[in-house]
Amino acid sequence: MNILVLGSGGREHAIALKISQSAKLEQLFVAPGNAGTSEIATNFEVGVNDFEGVKALVLREKIDLVVVGPEDPLVNGVHDFFLNDDALKDVSVIGPQKAAAELEGSKEFAKEFMMRHQIPTAAYESFTSETVEKGYDFLETLKPPYVLKADGLAAGKGVLILQDLDEAKAELKSMLLDSKFGSASATVVIEEFLDGIELSCFVLTDGTNYKILPTAKDYKRIGEGDTGLNTGGMGAISPVPFADESFLHKIERQVVQPTVKGLKKDKLPYVGFIFIGLIKVGEEPKVIEYNVRMGDPETEVVVPRIKNDLVDILTAMAKGKLNEINLDIDQRTATTVMAVSGGYPEAYEKGKEITGIESIKDSLVFHAGTKKDDGKVVTNGGRVIAITSLGNDFQEALQKCYQNMEKLHFDGMYYRKDLGFDL
Ligand code: AMP
Ligand code: GLY
Repeated sequence: MNILVLGSGGREHAIALKISQSAKLEQLFVAPGNAGTSEIATNFEVGVNDFEGVKALVLREKIDLVVVGPEDPLVNGVHDFFLNDDALKDVSVIGPQKAAAELEGSKEFAKEFMMRHQIPTAAYESFTSETVEKGYDFLETLKPPYVLKADGLAAGKGVLILQDLDEAKAELKSMLLDSKFGSASATVVIEEFLDGIELSCFVLTDGTNYKILPTAKDYKRIGEGDTGLNTGGMGAISPVPFADESFLHKIERQVVQPTVKGLKKDKLPYVGFIFIGLIKVGEEPKVIEYNVRMGDPETEVVVPRIKNDLVDILTAMAKGKLNEINLDIDQRTATTVMAVSGGYPEAYEKGKEITGIESIKDSLVFHAGTKKDDGKVVTNGGRVIAITSLGNDFQEALQKCYQNMEKLHFDGMYYRKDLGFDL
């Protein structure tokens, strides 16, 4: 089979590496990819939202299956684009169609879906510029902290958690009336604050059958002790030690099953990954969000624990035969630590030479923001490289990550040294 992975981050490098190990693979392509994917696949300079460019590539290279990494092209309808094109309609696409991708594309859509299918989540109401006064009244009925969410995609920045009522009202006004997050905040969801510990559950579905992948937990803040600005994710651990058998069973019964059944009932076509963000409140799972893709850097700890041939899994998903797959999961713990550019998540420089990659032998190195420049590997993004290790527990795995981080170098390199501090 010829396979194309769309995207350019650590997630796509991890997925591509796993695909590259399959006996079923003939040729592997990544668009646009990074320096890491260029070592195991052919990169093409085609953007993930350039559907015509993707089409030309798919036809020229006789691609059989496309794995969509990020949410943007899914929310923009890349799967529908394939289905509606005579030359592309027989190519398998892993990723939901546009209508189903709204689970990530619109928070209000996701909340309504959860209400309809009795999936546990925070109580909420949503508001627009016309109902801003009602929004102030609703805030007055809540206790702090106040949770305000821009309805649309806002590059992970659209959620505000505020302690002060007046500040919450001011932010609501700025989101609804001053387009704080552009059109993404034309509608704002205000919801009950959930107090608990976060984890993520990853599900594969072919629209009817599902398989649950290992849980993971990421570390979103830039600073140690989970302080400072939000990032795309500074590291991750899988499995999550506090998610025991009985809690996982609750997640499956109360969240995963009604989600997959709900998609079918609502005629939302879904072949792909579902990333369910959860908070454990007491002993109960509550959904904080759906993403219609894998997480990054969660993929860098979840995928290395899958022992199956990933191409077998993807093919079964595309054919509606996921029930025929028996997942085989490595019981060890995987951890990943992300090295980022100095200044990230605010302004940072690119083009810094990265050295030491080849001296890392006993861990996996996943490139995120890197590119080749004159034969050298240089930084090309905020998140630069993730190092993933396996161990008997998260402490052992992390120790290996940190030992190997010492071998890596680029100007301004920073990483968190406290992952797992809260476990
Ligand atoms: P989201 O983009 O929906 O994942 O929200 C970003 C982050 O805000 C989450 O990872 C949580 O840490 C936090 N968050 C979102 N919703 C809530 C909530 N209802 N209660 C507490 N924290 C929340
Ligand atoms: N690490 C969080 C995400 O991928 O959305």
